[in-house]
Amino acid sequence: MYIRYLGFGLLIWFPGALHAQHATPSCSAPRLDGGFFSPKQETYSDETALTYTCNDGRKPTVKGWWATSTCLNGTWSPEPQCIDEKACIAPDIPNTQYRENQSGWYNDEHKIRITCNEGYDPKGHNVTTTCINGKWSSVPVCEKNIHACGEPPQIPHAVIILQGYQDVFAADTGVQYQCQDGYTAEGGDTKKYVYCIAGNWTEGPVCSKWGHTLQRNQTWY
Ligand SMILES: *[C@@H]1O[C@H](CO)[C@@H](O)[C@H](O)[C@H]1NC(C)=O
Ligand SMILES: *[C@@H]1O[C@H](CO)[C@@H](O)[C@H](O)[C@H]1NC(C)=O
Ligand SMILES: *[C@@H]1O[C@H](CO)[C@@H](O)[C@H](O)[C@H]1NC(C)=O
Ligand SMILES: *[C@@H]1O[C@H](CO)[C@@H](O)[C@H](O)[C@H]1NC(C)=O
Repeated sequence: MYIRYLGFGLLIWFPGALHAQHATPSCSAPRLDGGFFSPKQETYSDETALTYTCNDGRKPTVKGWWATSTCLNGTWSPEPQCIDEKACIAPDIPNTQYRENQSGWYNDEHKIRITCNEGYDPKGHNVTTTCINGKWSSVPVCEKNIHACGEPPQIPHAVIILQGYQDVFAADTGVQYQCQDGYTAEGGDTKKYVYCIAGNWTEGPVCSKWGHTLQRNQTWY
């Protein structure tokens, strides 16, 4: 009974400490097959790092013969793993998408087929790479299509709507500008579409204050 009251009392006295512990869970020692890590502890507090290496015939899932992993919110990131040295770690191929293995590595002889991002084309029509004895065969390259456009120009008092940021847009795609409240584009509209044509954006809107446009019109008439 006494113990229970004591426990209850501690809960009342240290709610802050309990809360902090819940906000940043610690990690238990990782399971690492085929390697060892340091320091060796039973638990590790949040943001603690460890280093590990792998036995003969194995390697870490990141570049190099030893690797670090950090306890983040209760899990080791990246997860310490020792894989067959003939396996390959995920290739870094800019501007592409491919079917990723959750584990972050691929077996020997596994072939990856890539798709270039919008606005990019495969150079030399080569869209595959194969894991051969721990290394990727010639990695495909995606280069910007000559008819693709960069980011559409920034225009004062306007924003692009219904479209997340991209730094490259495929030919013949469009984006829509919306003028800020109280501003209008030419012709009284508040919105205007622009298109990526042969590597250039068509002309964007000029968003001007409604009163200002009116005044200009008044001096003209
Ligand atoms: C930590 O993990 C918990 C549950 O696993 C989750 O609710 C929380 O959002 C995570 N916090 C951060 C900072 O990732
Ligand atoms: C993906 O990773 C798992 C381990 O989590 C492995 O068993 C599997 O063979 C891998 N797949 C490929 C295609 O390499
Ligand atoms: C494409 O890649 C494969 C495997 O990486 C290679 O064997 C082949 O020679 C390449 N083809 C060209 C045209 O580069
Ligand atoms: C885009 O426009 C510029 C000048 O406005 C021109 O020099 C250039 O050739 C155009 N680009 C393409 C791909 O047509």
